[in-house]
Parts: sequence; structure tokens; C-alpha cells
Amino acid sequence: MADNNWEKITSFRNTDIPTWLPVLVGAAFIYAAWFFYTNKTGKQQGPHNFVMKPEYYDTAPVRTLKNRLETQGMPCGDCHDPAGPSSNDPTKAPEVHSQIVLNHGSNNHCFNCHNNGSRNFFAGPGGAKVPYAHVEMLCGKCHGNQYRDWERGTHGRRNGYWNKAMGEQKALVCIACHNPHDPKFKPLTAAPQPQAYIDAALNGQIYATPGEKH
Ligand code: HEC
Ligand code: HEC
Ligand code: HEC
Ligand code: HEC
Repeated sequence: MADNNWEKITSFRNTDIPTWLPVLVGAAFIYAAWFFYTNKTGKQQGPHNFVMKPEYYDTAPVRTLKNRLETQGMPCGDCHDPAGPSSNDPTKAPEVHSQIVLNHGSNNHCFNCHNNGSRNFFAGPGGAKVPYAHVEMLCGKCHGNQYRDWERGTHGRRNGYWNKAMGEQKALVCIACHNPHDPKFKPLTAAPQPQAYIDAALNGQIYATPGEKH
């Protein structure tokens, strides 16, 4: 038994490798190297003169923020506090506020967000007054996950400097992007993948995206 096995193994080890095999493998490697080399230094991959749309690199928020909660130049409290006018249906904007069209899913009650007792503020948990400058505390009341992600910098956007020693870093607040009354974004098209390319017209400098120098 044992002897038989031994013979099998030695006979396998003595099998001749045909001489053309290493030659073929070597040739394949040289061809592959040539293929990748010429492909890289030859014609530009992808569209050469693609133009990145500004929406992909513009740092300006999509909404313009005010610095207080107001409508038509008047703080809400001017008309509403203390106990001002009231309509009976706080799920629909009354005529005086007809510019507000609420489309926030099942969150369809004005006083889920606006502080009924103190109209210049938002409604925090348990009726707490959330000031305009901290509107993220309002959104965070119901959108805990996004609030947490936003706090850590993985939702929304940081403008300015990563290295805070070099300059200010500013986190855009929720309503700089979301319209609170109609917060959903239309599905977005992904930006083109980053691609380094060498632009001969610009002294052979390497750019990650057009207009961005490294
Ligand atoms: C120029 C005066 C005026 C200002 C300023 C004003 N409101 Fe009003 N608001 C009214 C009137 C009048 C009504 C009631 C209309 C009715 O009788 O149907 C009203 C109704 C409302 C309602 C409907 C629910 C209710 O019963 O109160 C909400 C919510 C509301 N206002 C929020 C605000 C907020 C938030 C602001 C500030 C961003 C604001 N208002 C600023 C005049 C004003
Ligand atoms: C999801 C929370 C939320 C709900 C619900 C909500 N609001 Fe607002 N509302 C806000 C926030 C946040 C702002 C501040 C927006 C800004 O300044 O960009 C605001 C601003 C306003 C303004 C001032 C802005 C303007 O264009 O005049 C009025 C008036 C107003 N809300 C009325 C209402 C009324 C009436 C309802 C109910 C039909 C309502 N809101 C429901 C969060 C909410
Ligand atoms: C009182 C709770 C509440 C508050 C406060 C609130 N939301 Fe919402 N939000 C909801 C609910 C409920 C939905 C709808 C979920 C559904 O019906 O599918 C929603 C939906 C959304 C959506 C769409 C999510 C999706 O995937 O369709 C966005 C974006 C959003 N909210 C942003 C905000 C922002 C920004 C604020 C602060 C200005 C805010 N919300 C404040 C409860 C809230
Ligand atoms: C710089 C802009 C920006 C800021 C700031 C921002 N968001 Fe968003 N948010 C978006 C965009 C864009 C989407 C849609 C993502 C998608 O469709 O894939 C989104 C999606 C959402 C959704 C839907 C669910 C999801 O995660 O896709 C919720 C809820 C939401 N944001 C809440 C918030 C809250 C709460 C804050 C503040 C704490 C906030 N956002 C700040 C841009 C922003």
C-alpha cells in the first residue's frame, strides 16, 4: 500500500513541464505590461473636456437663512404673543400665511414645530423654547439618527477647514438645505467619479476635478 503511494508521488514529480509553457506565460506577462502601459500614457480615458456642474462643487447652501424666525420682515411674536390670532386648523396654513405649503409626511401639525405659547421660538421637547439659531434641536427631536450623523459630520456639510488650526469650520444647519415645510430632496444624480488628469493646456498640472489645484 505505502509503496504504491510513494511511487505515485515520485512519478508525478518527475512529470516534465513542456518548455513552451514558461515561454507562453512570460509572453503573456510582457503583453499585459505593454497593454496597461500604452493604455495609461496613450489616449485619455473617458471624456477629456468634461465640465463639472457647479452644483457639485459650489459650497453655497441651497437655502438662504435669515437670522431670526420671521415672516415678511416681522417676528412672529409681533402678531401672536401673547395669545394672538388663531385659526382652528393648525394643519393648514391660514390665508395670512398662504406661502406655507406643508408637505412633511405625517408630521402635519404646525405646533409640532412652532411654539404655540411663544411664537418666536420652535417647539422643543416638552414645550421647551428652541431658538432659531439652534433649529437643529427641533429637527433632532424627531430625526435622532440624522441629528447624530450631522453632529459627527457624516450628514450635511462642513464648510471651511478640516484643520481647525488653519481657519473656521462651519457646519451647515439642517434648514440651510432642507425646506422645513417640504424637506424631502428629489433623488440626486451622483457626481462623476473623481479622476486625476493631466491638462497639457495648464502646464501639465494634475487636477482632481476641474478648477481644483493640488
Ligand atoms: C402680521 C401678523 C402675523 C405675523 C407676523 C405672523 N402671523 Fe401667524 N397668523 C396671523 C393670523 C392673523 C393668523 C390667524 C388667521 C386666521 O384667523 O385664520 C395666524 C395664524 C397662524 C398659525 C395657524 C395656527 C394658529 O391657530 O395659530 C400659525 C401656525 C402661525 N400663524 C404661525 C406663525 C409663525 C411661525 C410666524 C412667524 C414666522 C407668524 N405666524 C407670524 C398673523 C401673523
Ligand atoms: C417641521 C417643522 C415645521 C412645521 C411642521 C411647520 N413649520 Fe413653519 N417653519 C419651520 C422652520 C424651521 C421655519 C424657519 C424657516 C427659515 O427661516 O428658513 C419656519 C418658518 C415659518 C414661517 C416664516 C417663513 C415664511 O416664509 O414666512 C411661517 C409663516 C411658518 N413657518 C408657518 C407655519 C405654518 C402655518 C405651519 C402649519 C401649516 C408650519 N409653519 C409648520 C418649521 C416648521
Ligand atoms: C415632530 C416630529 C418631526 C420634526 C420636529 C421634524 N420632522 Fe422631519 N419628518 C417627520 C416625519 C413623521 C416624517 C415623515 C415620515 C414619513 O411620513 O414617511 C418626516 C420626514 C422628513 C424628511 C423626508 C424623509 C424621507 O426619507 O422621506 C426630511 C428630509 C425631514 N423630515 C427633515 C426634517 C428637518 C430638516 C426638520 C427640522 C426643520 C424636521 N424634519 C423636523 C417628523 C418630524
Ligand atoms: C448640506 C445639506 C444638508 C444638511 C445641512 C442636512 N441635510 Fe439632511 N439631507 C440632505 C440631502 C441632500 C438628503 C438626501 C439624501 C439622498 O437622497 O440620498 C438628506 C436627507 C435627509 C433625511 C432623509 C433620510 C436620509 O437620511 O436620507 C432626513 C430625515 C434629513 N436629511 C434630516 C436632516 C437633519 C435633521 C439635519 C440637521 C441636523 C440635516 N438633514 C442636515 C442634505 C442636508
